[in-house]
Amino acid sequence: MRALTWHGTHDVRVDTVADPEIVNPRDAIIKVTSTAICGSDLHLYDGVIPAMKPGDILGHEFMGEVVETGSGSTLEKGQRVVVPFTISCGGCFHCHIAQYSACENSNPVPKQDMTETLYGHPMAGIFGYSHLTGGYSGGQAEYVRVPFSDVGPIVVPDHLDDDTVLFLSDILPTGWMAAENAEIQPDDTVAVWGCGPVGLFAIQSALAMGAARVIAIDHYPQRLALARSLGAETVDFRHTDVREALMEMSGGIGCDAVIDAVGMEAHGFAIDNMIDIAKQKVGVGADRASALKQAILAVRPGGRVSIPGVYGGMTDKFPLGALMEKGLQIRTGQTHVQRYLEPLLQKIEEGALDTTFLISHRLPLEEAAHGYKCFKERQDSWTKVVLKPGMDAHPTAAG
Ligand SMILES: NC(=O)c1ccc[n+]([C@@H]2O[C@H](COP(=O)([O-])OP(=O)(O)OC[C@H]3O[C@@H](n4cnc5c(N)ncnc54)[C@H](O)[C@@H]3O)[C@@H](O)[C@H]2O)c1
Ligand SMILES: [Zn+2]
Ligand SMILES: [Zn+2]
Repeated sequence: MRALTWHGTHDVRVDTVADPEIVNPRDAIIKVTSTAICGSDLHLYDGVIPAMKPGDILGHEFMGEVVETGSGSTLEKGQRVVVPFTISCGGCFHCHIAQYSACENSNPVPKQDMTETLYGHPMAGIFGYSHLTGGYSGGQAEYVRVPFSDVGPIVVPDHLDDDTVLFLSDILPTGWMAAENAEIQPDDTVAVWGCGPVGLFAIQSALAMGAARVIAIDHYPQRLALARSLGAETVDFRHTDVREALMEMSGGIGCDAVIDAVGMEAHGFAIDNMIDIAKQKVGVGADRASALKQAILAVRPGGRVSIPGVYGGMTDKFPLGALMEKGLQIRTGQTHVQRYLEPLLQKIEEGALDTTFLISHRLPLEEAAHGYKCFKERQDSWTKVVLKPGMDAHPTAAG
C-alpha cells in the first residue's frame, strides 16, 4: 500500500510499504478515506520529538471503512468509523476512570522505558507518533491497523460526510477538553493563545460553554480572521504588547482563564524564545514555552490555566513564582478522546458544532509531502489539510 513515511527533519515521503495485518484478536483494519495533518505532526516534521525511525508511518487523525476484523473486534466490515488518536485498552485502571490517554496497556513494554524515565510513568500508545508512544503505524496511509478496535473507534452514520466528522479523531475533542479544563463560567473572559485548529476549536467550545468574551492571540491575519468569525476578539502579538492589551480588555484584572493552544514551538522574538529556538536546533530538547509563560503572567490571580499545546521535554525559566503566588490552577494532557466521541457527535448532528469551516486544503495522499511543507511554511492560509487516499492526483484547494 501507499503511506506517508518519516525519513528525517523536513523529509517525509509517500512510499510503498507492506499492508497492515491483524496481529491481535481485538484489531481491525481500516481502509482510510480521510486523514488530516495536525499541528502535532509538525513537531515530528520539525524533528523536535525524539524516538522517530526512518520509515515510520505518520498520522493520528483518520477515518475510514472497516475491511477486516479480528475475532475480538466489535466492528463489522463495511462500517464507517472515526478512530481516536489515543490507543486505549478499555480495561485498565485509567481507562475505567475515563482517563483514556493514560492507558497502561497500549504502549508495548520495551517501548515504555523512555517515557518512564522522562516522565516518571510511561505514556500510552498513540498512532503515528514516535517510538515513545508505542511506534504504531499511523493513518496517513491507504490502510491502518487499529488495536483495541472494540474500545476506540466510533461508528458514524452515512448521512454525515467525512469532512463533518473527521475531526472527532483529535482536534475537536482537544479543543473541547481545553475549554473544559479551563472550567469556563458564564461571565468569564478567556484568552486563547494560538489560532490553529486546536485554538479555533477551543474558542468555539469556550463560547459554547458560555464564556462572555474570548480573546484570541496569534500573528497570522487569516487565522485571526477565522477566530473573529467564530465570535472572538483578537490580538496580533507582532504589533501589540499582549499582557498589556489583555489587562486593558479585562478591566485591569486579567483574564479568568487562559488556554495555551500553541505548544512547544512558539513563534516570536522575545529573548527567552530566541534562546529556546537555538537550544531546540542543537537538539537539547528544550521546549519553547514562551506562549505559556505569557499566559501565566496574563491570567488573573486565582485564575485557570489550560494547556492543550504539546510539550515533550523540559523548559527553562518557568514562572513558578507567578503560578504559586497568584494561586493558579493548571490542567493539561493528551486528550481523553474516547470520552468525548458520543457527546460531540451528537452536537455535530444537532448542528450545534461545525467543523468544516476549518478545512483549507484537500489533497490526494500522494501529495502529502507537499501538504506538510505548506502547512508548515504557509500556516496563515493553510489552516487544515485533509489527505484523501482515494482522490486522483492534482491538488484541489477548498479555500
Ligand atoms: N493535547 C492534545 O491531545 C493535543 C491534540 C492535538 C494537538 N495538540 C497540540 O496543540 C497545539 C496546537 O495544534 P494546532 O494543530 O492548532 O497547531 P498549529 O501549528 O496549526 O497552530 C499553532 C498556532 O500557534 C500560533 N503561535 C505560535 N506562537 C505563538 C505565540 N507566541 N503566541 C500566540 N500564538 C502563537 C501559530 O502562529 C499557529 O497559528 C500543538 O502543540 C499540538 O501539538 C495537542
Ligand atoms: Zn492531532
Ligand atoms: Zn487502558
